[in-house]
Amino acid sequence: MLQDFKKFQAQTSAHPMGIEVNYAKGSYIYDRQGKAYLDFVAGVSANVIGHQPPAVVAAIKDQLDRYMHVMVYGEFIQAPQVTLCQKLAKLLPGKLSVTYLVNSGTEATEGAMKLAKLYTGRPEIVAAHHSYHGNTQGSMSVMDYPERKNPFMPLIPGIRFINFNNFDNLNRITTKTAAVILETIQGGAGFIEPADGYLKAVKERCQQTGTLLILDEIQTGFARTGRMFGFEHYDVIPDIVITGKALGGGMPIGAFSSTPQIMQRLINPAMGHITTFGGHPVIAAAALATLEYIENNDLKSKALIKEQFIRQHLKHPLIKEIRGRGLMLSLILPREELANELVLRALKKGLILFWLLYEKRAVRITPPLTISEDELSKGINIILSILDEMHNEYL
Ligand SMILES: Cc1ncc(COP(=O)(O)O)c(C=O)c1O
Repeated sequence: MLQDFKKFQAQTSAHPMGIEVNYAKGSYIYDRQGKAYLDFVAGVSANVIGHQPPAVVAAIKDQLDRYMHVMVYGEFIQAPQVTLCQKLAKLLPGKLSVTYLVNSGTEATEGAMKLAKLYTGRPEIVAAHHSYHGNTQGSMSVMDYPERKNPFMPLIPGIRFINFNNFDNLNRITTKTAAVILETIQGGAGFIEPADGYLKAVKERCQQTGTLLILDEIQTGFARTGRMFGFEHYDVIPDIVITGKALGGGMPIGAFSSTPQIMQRLINPAMGHITTFGGHPVIAAAALATLEYIENNDLKSKALIKEQFIRQHLKHPLIKEIRGRGLMLSLILPREELANELVLRALKKGLILFWLLYEKRAVRITPPLTISEDELSKGINIILSILDEMHNEYL
């Protein structure tokens, strides 16, 4: 199939990983030759409760027997959508009680930016250098990666950039700024956590200038960092929160949530933000089952216990640092070539690891939150054996 994959399916890079997937279960993906791959990436943080989680599969089957798509988003009352939005209202802090469901993370970013412009009547958005919020043209406008952006210029105007964790830059947020959009923990940049008091200072500056704070929880959301939402570690509540990835438990979804006061602006102009498939009932049912599983199995606490397990056992002279929180971790190696080599050799040994967007010395470890300690040990031993090999070869 590799040839047909390359011939008929549009490619995103010259060197795809190319596992020919046969089936997946729990923490493993199996290829067509029967080889098992232990998954330390979880579809880039999407498969939060593993592959083919029975509760999610059952919810999907149940909904399939009732109805699939019936009408564009927002017209008919569909129980899976309503119940999911209600569940999110229960999980989110403060007044963040109204949710708009879309199909992907980048759409959630688009929706959040439009909502902020609409609510404040202002033209500007402030974003952080080395951020990533998606790949459609609005999301790309708030991404700062000239190499990837330049071929698509012009993108949307009115974007100003600040350096994440730089308190002095906060004066770039002014009374012209509709919103500041930040990842709670910068993902592609290398799993950079906000410095002490940083997010609070951003929020304060937003309050002074009448600007909305949008936090992107697409990677950090839903127990991955040991709290239901990453921002709960930093004692701040955003005005709009963007979610996706894990929310679907393996199905495609995105959402932006805000207060009733802010969200009601979306009605005017009528149809100012619409989607056909957003909140698809089968996917909403899958999302609801995922959230219930995360809550009922206390995956927040388990993520923290598993983080400690990894930090205790994954020690090697080539690992300069382990960044991140909970099961959103990245290994920082001395050089890019070593990070690259680790990912490729691990794949050969049946362990899936992955790179980050900007920080090329980093290797991503974001397994399903349901991974067992035995599975973690197995993966850690593979990583350590490769690092030993590389230590001898490269240094
Ligand atoms: C922080 C963050 N925001 C937004 C996105 C975009 O989500 P999607 O790929 O579902 O459009 C991603 C995806 O990697 C992400 O990590």
